[in-house]
Formats: sequence, structure tokens, C-alpha cells
Amino acid sequence: MTTSTMPALAERTLADVLARVQPGLHGVEAKMRETPLAQHEALSHALDHLLAAGGKRVRPAVTLLAAGLFRAPLPRATALAAAVEMLHTATLVHDDLVDGSLLRRGHPTLNAQWSPAATVLAGDFLFARAAELAAQAESIPVMSAFSRTLMIIVNGELTQMFTHRGQASRDGYFERIYGKTASLFEVAAFAPALLADAPPAAVEAMRTFGRQAGMAFQIVDDILDFTSDENRLGKPAGSDLRQGLITLPVLCYLEAAPGDADVAELLNGHAGDAGRVGRVVQAVRQSGAAEAALAEARAFVASAQAALATVPDNPDRQALSDLAELFVTRSL
Ligand code: IPE
Ligand code: IPE
Ligand code: MG
Ligand code: MG
Repeated sequence: MTTSTMPALAERTLADVLARVQPGLHGVEAKMRETPLAQHEALSHALDHLLAAGGKRVRPAVTLLAAGLFRAPLPRATALAAAVEMLHTATLVHDDLVDGSLLRRGHPTLNAQWSPAATVLAGDFLFARAAELAAQAESIPVMSAFSRTLMIIVNGELTQMFTHRGQASRDGYFERIYGKTASLFEVAAFAPALLADAPPAAVEAMRTFGRQAGMAFQIVDDILDFTSDENRLGKPAGSDLRQGLITLPVLCYLEAAPGDADVAELLNGHAGDAGRVGRVVQAVRQSGAAEAALAEARAFVASAQAALATVPDNPDRQALSDLAELFVTRSL
């Protein structure tokens, strides 16, 4: 397709933007499905279901595009991309257990079918598998960055668990979403540059790109929790507030309507009341809070793209930039 016949980005889908890494993503999928040791039948069955349910695969796409941009060796980049997506899958297994979520990617979660203990262990297996895949990237700096990311994610989830009630600071919110989400996008973007022995400035630029794009991705996830529904998302909507989790749309709403008594109660840690949660969801929806939060996500994308503009241009760089843009126009 020439540039002149290319539809505007807003009309292009994720599939369009990811078309150039589709063969690479098939390789990642195959890598994720390898079973390096004899597994218990129940575990194999559960893993098959988890992998078959799919997911958008945006993180391995970031890794493959970054690898293409810096010409990192493909087999090692493929193992790294599989490690990143496996780590993401593992965090979702544990996150759904922690959140008590019964639906993910349109299918019942593992915790909807298994005991908490078995679910924890299956998640542990996936974490270990992710580490094994990361080792196949054959780079100690990458392995180190990968392990550190896992520490950051778990620390982020624990921070959210211990401090979210009553907390309504933007700094706290941004710190949390960096930990639980943006840190993984960060490593997905800069580890391929390490694999390719790219100059330190380029590695830093990719780190910034991944982090800022990842921040935008989680902000939009938090917006969709208010504006979308379970059928479209394949996972429960409205669930953050039900758990007393204050996200950016609520912070934006609070700035516009500081006197809202329901929000004040939520901030005091009284989250459980379904009527109150419903009223706040409606209030946030009807206010301009989702748009205000989206404007902040757009600013993160702009800063991600600015970082990307400092590394050499090629079609993979363009695709990364387009992908970041789609993070704020996506509806699932
Ligand atoms: C969900 O991530 C968890 C977040 C960090 C928001 P995705 O929206 O990438 O989930 P899948 O992999 O496509 O299901
Ligand atoms: C999960 O964030 C991020 C993880 C690191 C697991 P969310 O709790 O917002 O993800 P969803 O909405 O359940 O997908
Ligand atoms: Mg969750
Ligand atoms: Mg969410």
C-alpha cells in the first residue's frame, strides 16, 4: 500500500498496524506453546485454554517492532517477545485471582474454575516459564532487566493493594500504573535495543518510549472500565471502583466536582455500596472526566513519540509510533 492510499490512522485497526509483525507474532505464539517438560494434564489443559483465548498481543508486537528497528537477531527477539507476553499472562492469572474477576478475554478465568491455591501455582508456573524464555534471549543485561521488571510489577500490585483505599493523589496513581503496566511496556521496548547492542542513548529513548506508551495504555484501560462494557471488553467493567480503586477518570471528575458526597465516601474507604459505586460511575460518564483523562493519555503518547523520533527512522519505527497512537483510540 502506498502512503497516498493508506487510510488515516484513526480508521486503521490494530491488525493493520501489526500486519508487518504478523509472521513474527506467529513465531512468538509457537514459542509460547512449546512445552519444555512433562506437565500435569490439568496444567497443560489450563495453559492451552489461556493461550487459545488470545489477547491483543500488543507487548510482543512492541518487542518485535523494536527488534526490527534495531535489527536485533530474530530468534533471540522472538524468545524475548514470548517471555514478555508470558509474563503478562502470568500477571493476569494472579491479578484476576486478586481482583476476584471471573471473566478474561471472554472466557472464565482460572480462578473461576480452580481453587485459589491451584491458581497461584499455575501463575507461578507461568512466571517461571517466562523467565526460561527470557533466558533464551541469551543476554545477561536483558535477563536482569526482565527480572527487575517482575519485581517492579509485583511491588506495584502490592502497593495498590495496601494503599489504594482513601488514596486520591495523581502522583500515587501514576506511580501505581507505572509499576503494574508501564514497566512491562518499558522492558518490551528497550530490551530489544540491548539485544542489538544499540548505543546507550537509543536504549534510553526506547525505555522512555515504552514507559510513556505504557502509561497511556493503562490510562485508557482505566477509562474503558467506565465507558465500556463486559461484552466488548471480554472482562468485567466498572470493577475498579467496586474495589475502591481510584483511577484517573475519578481524579479528573473530582477536580471538576470536588463536593461530590459519593466520591468523598469512596475516598474514605467506603467502597462496597453498589448504589454509591453506580452513582459515581454514572457521574463520571456524564461529566467530561473520561475526555480529560484521555487528553492526559494523549500527552503520554506524544511524549513516547517524541522519544522515538530520536532513533533512526524506518518502517518499524513508524509502526511503533502508530501503535502508540492506537493505544489512545482503541475501544478494547
Ligand atoms: C490488560 O492488558 C491488563 C492491563 C495492563 C491493562 P491487555 O489489554 O493488553 O490484555 P490482553 O492481553 O489484550 O487480554
Ligand atoms: C492489571 O491491571 C495489570 C497487571 C499487571 C496485572 P488491571 O487490573 O487494570 O487489569 P484488568 O483491567 O484486570 O485487565
Ligand atoms: Mg484486574
Ligand atoms: Mg483494568
